Parts: sequence; structure tokens; C-alpha cells
Amino acid sequence: MKKYRWGVIGTGRIARTFCEALQGCEDAELYAVGSRTPERAAQFAAEFGFERSYGSYGEIAADDNIDCVYIATPMASHFGDAMLCIENGRNVLCEKSVTLNSAQLEKLLTAAESRGVFFMEAMWMKCRPTYLKAMEWLESGRIGRVEYVKADFCNFVPYDPKDRLFAPECGGGALLDLTVYPLTLVNDIAKTEPDEVVSCAHIGRDGVDLSNTLLLRYDGWYASLNAGFELQNHNNAVISGSGGSIVFGDWFFCTSEVTLYDRDGKELERSVIPNRVNGYEYEIAEVHRCLEAGSKESALVPHSSTRQVMKIMDECRHQWGMVFPQEK
Ligand SMILES: NC(=O)c1ccc[n+]([C@@H]2O[C@H](COP(=O)([O-])OP(=O)(O)OC[C@H]3O[C@@H](n4cnc5c(N)ncnc54)[C@H](OP(=O)(O)O)[C@@H]3O)[C@@H](O)[C@H]2O)c1
Repeated sequence: MKKYRWGVIGTGRIARTFCEALQGCEDAELYAVGSRTPERAAQFAAEFGFERSYGSYGEIAADDNIDCVYIATPMASHFGDAMLCIENGRNVLCEKSVTLNSAQLEKLLTAAESRGVFFMEAMWMKCRPTYLKAMEWLESGRIGRVEYVKADFCNFVPYDPKDRLFAPECGGGALLDLTVYPLTLVNDIAKTEPDEVVSCAHIGRDGVDLSNTLLLRYDGWYASLNAGFELQNHNNAVISGSGGSIVFGDWFFCTSEVTLYDRDGKELERSVIPNRVNGYEYEIAEVHRCLEAGSKESALVPHSSTRQVMKIMDECRHQWGMVFPQEK
């Protein structure tokens, strides 16, 4: 069996989760990890069993033995880290939100295309079997014509000025961290730009949004999304149609359970698909499939989807007057 050699950039929270998934994939090799500090890289490498550790991101980007680099740094670093990898000819899986804005994203996609490398946003939700089951029900007309979508992602996080989530220089705020999931779901259903975006946000003392509400109007239907660090909520999602509805369980983007109802609310089908490892194995499998096929873009997480979602997030920040320091 071919083993894909992974490089990981950043040693924070999600890098750990992702590496646990890599450990659970037979065709993945934990090859190299890069950190801003050699000691942290060495410690992380020892803990997860990486063959190599690098004390800079430049060294890992330059390693020709790597099949794909996973970028797990804060939002504001994605552009520079991904560009470094692309310019060195590396295939890239980059955490969400993939960049701060559309201008950065376009530069990355242009660079990836001209360098001939694979590039994908790590939108793991779109690779999960539960999510794909819901899309299958939707596309085969099981709920008729879509009339309304509701999706929320509220995750209470106490204010900490040192946390990247609240730091404008790190690309903080609920929009890029949380709203990107419900927006991606809605965009998958719409497959086109909304006719109208109405949004409001609570901008905190550091200048990033602590919570937000979005209303999106499409041709004949609309979507309502809530996200925030200061709200408690049931984070389910509902796709309501003329002939029934699809309801994702709580934490809709990573739930293992999705249910199909008829127009009267009678359950028609329930799909429960437990994770094989921790849920991130599906996006890893998708990257492996693309590398095997020589594809530069994933069909499950296409560039068009990443682009459309980013454009809506640009529009929301424009409505709020929220500008990152890198954009000034
Ligand atoms: N897919 C998911 O389910 C999921 C979940 C959580 C987060 N994420 C995404 O993953 C990315 C990282 O999130 P996280 O929660 O893992 O963040 P984190 O715990 O703060 O870790 C980020 C890592 O990036 C590196 N880094 C580089 N520049 C940095 C800077 N200026 N400040 C702080 N760290 C810096 C650090 O590693 P070194 O010191 O080793 O260089 C740090 O450990 C974000 O884009 C986030 O949206 C995705």
C-alpha cells in the first residue's frame, strides 16, 4: 500500500487532533512537523511519532519528500504559510478559514495553479459521510424544493485577549472561525451567490466580532445563521423543503447523525455513521484520493465553494466595518 507522507505546520490544538487522525489512517505517514521553535517541533514529533522535526516553517516547505503539507496555524498566517509551501512545490491542505479575504485566496489559487500543486481548504465537514448522506437526500429530491435553512454554531469561549480567537492580528472573530461552517452548508445547497446578505455582529473591544447573525436570500428561499463565542445554543441545522426536511443533530458540522422527515414531521430515515477515528480521517482520505488521481482540486471541497463562502464573509465584514490590521 502506498503511504502518503504528511508534513504538519503548527503544533496547536487542531494539529494534535489532526495528527491523531493521521495515526489512525493506514496509508498516512507522519513524516515531518514544523514549528516556530525547534524544541516544540521536537517534542511534538516525539509525541506523535514523526520522522523529522523542523524549527521553522521554511524548512518543512522545502522538504521534497513530503506529499502534502497540512497548515494548522491561525487564520492570519495561512496566506503566508500556504504561499511558502506552494512556491516550494508542496501540495497543501489548509485549515479554515483558508485566508482572511478573497484577495488573498485568489493569489493562493493562482499560485497553486501556476505551480501545478493540489490545494484544498480543510473543510472536514464536507468530507464526512453524514454530511454526504444529507446532500444525497437533498439532491435526489427527497425533501422537494428547498424553502428555508437554519444552521447555528455557537461555542462559548471566555474572553482572553491572548487567545487567537479574539486577536485581530491573528484573524480572530466568530465569522472566520465559526460562521464559515453554516455558510459552507448553505452555499452547498445554493451552489450560487445569494441575492442578498443581511448581517449584524457584536464587535468586541478588540475589534473582531464576538457573535453574528446572517440572513441570506436566494431565489425562492432563505437561510438564517447564528454564530458566536458569547452565545449558548443548540447547534443543529435544518434544511426545510416543500416535501420534508433534513435535520442534522447537535454540532451539525461534525454530527454522526442526520434524519430525514416528511412534510408532516414523520421520520422517514435516520442515518447514524460513527467516526472510524475522530472524524478527520475523511478529509485525509479525500486528499489521498486526489493525490492518487493527480487532481489539483478536490471534488468534495472545490475551490468554487471556498471562493463563494469567502466572498460572503468579505461582504459581512464590509457591512460591519470590520477590517483586519493586515488589510489596513
Ligand atoms: N477543522 C477544525 O475542526 C478546526 C478546529 C479548530 C481550529 N481550526 C483551525 O485551525 C487553525 C489553528 O487553530 P488552533 O485552534 O489549533 O490554534 P492554536 O491552538 O492557537 O495553534 C496554532 C498554532 O499555529 C502556530 N502559530 C503560528 N503563528 C502563530 C501566531 N502568530 N500565534 C499563535 N500561534 C501561531 C503555533 O504553532 P508553533 O508555535 O508550533 O509554530 C500554534 O501552536 C485555525 O485556522 C482554526 O480556524 C480548525
